[in-house]
Parts: sequence; structure tokens; C-alpha cells
Amino acid sequence: MSVDTPLADLLLCELTPDDLPAAIVLDAEAFDDPFSESLWQSLLEGRGCAWLLREDHDTPVLAFALFSCVLDEAELLRIAVSPDFQGRGCGRQLIQGALSFLQQRGCCRVMLEVRRSNLAAIRLYEHCGFVLEAVRKAYYVDSAGVEDALIYICTLAQPGDS
Ligand SMILES: CC(C)(COP(=O)(O)OP(=O)(O)OC[C@H]1O[C@@H](n2cnc3c(N)ncnc32)[C@H](O)[C@@H]1OP(=O)(O)O)[C@@H](O)C(=O)NCCC(=O)NCCS
Repeated sequence: MSVDTPLADLLLCELTPDDLPAAIVLDAEAFDDPFSESLWQSLLEGRGCAWLLREDHDTPVLAFALFSCVLDEAELLRIAVSPDFQGRGCGRQLIQGALSFLQQRGCCRVMLEVRRSNLAAIRLYEHCGFVLEAVRKAYYVDSAGVEDALIYICTLAQPGDS
């Protein structure tokens, strides 16, 4: 897979159990606090659903977005794009595709929280229609210090909405 592959050629598909190891590797590359394999498994056996971006069905996973869904609401638990492919529109393509699938499944509202300092993620979410709903002051306390969480909401129209 080349970083020159046109983004329009990438495939958006729902994560299957076969894809789980690749998603776990990408999670560990992207985050200091990756989810354990057992947490991934329990989410996907329960309320979780995830979408991936890749070049083809048998090529590496370039990005994932993991959601938890309850009734007509979803929460974006995490999203990661492979470092070599960041800043090329993969995140935008992934979120927009995942929101479209969630909408087709009857989801009306998607919520997420993000660190105030994560400007790439904030730009991505705002570009995809998320609106700032609330600020949780000093929500994250870890080795990096203390940081606010921003809560964003995206409303998805459903048939019959005026
Ligand atoms: C956040 C992340 C998913 C964004 O994915 P991406 O594919 O790089 O984003 P895109 O190329 O689709 O760009 C989306 C927007 O973010 C902006 N952006 C991307 N990287 C940026 C950066 N480093 N700094 C500032 N803005 C940035 C783009 O300009 C674009 O803004 P626009 O729509 O106004 O033009 C990716 O950087 C990532 O995986 N980060 C590590 C994990 C993480 O922080 N996840 C989010 C918390 S759960």
C-alpha cells in the first residue's frame, strides 16, 4: 500500500473478527492507553460496532472508528488513522461513512469526547458536523497533566424528522 494511493480508491467496511488483530495493532500505535484485546472483544460482542478503511479486502487496515450503540444513540469511543496516512482525508472519509451507516440503522445522535489539545481530531469532528455541547473541566488527569474534555454531538436526521 502506497501513501500515493488515491483516497477515493479506499474501501470502507465493517470490522469482522478477522480484522480485530489489525485494529488492535493500530489502536496501540495511536494511543498511549490502547484498549485490551478482551475489551475490544467484549465491546464487539455487545454494544460495539466498528468500521475500517483499507485499500482492498485483503490489505492492511489504514484506519478504524469504534462506536458503542444503544438504541438510537451512539458514542464514538475512538478513531485512529495509521500515522503514514494522517492528514490525507482518511479520518474524514471514515467518519462520514460510519455516520451514514449509523443513520441507516436508525441512530439519531452521536456523542464523543476529545482532549482540548487534540486539534486534528477537533477539526475532523467539526468538519463532519459535530457541534460542541459541553466542557468537562480537568477531566483527564494523567502523566501528561490535567486537561479538559470537550463533548461533541452530531445529530443525524431520520425519516419523518421535520
Ligand atoms: C485525529 C485523526 C483520526 C485525524 O485523522 P486524519 O485522517 O489525519 O484527518 P483528515 O486528514 O481527515 O483531516 C481532518 C481535518 O483535520 C485536520 N488535521 C489533520 N491533521 C491535523 C493536524 N496534525 N493538526 C491540525 N489539523 C489537522 C485537517 O486539516 C482536516 O481539517 P479540515 O477538514 O478543516 O481541512 C488522526 O490524526 C489520528 O489517528 N490521530 C491519533 C489518534 C487520535 O487522536 N484519535 C482521536 C481521539 S479518539
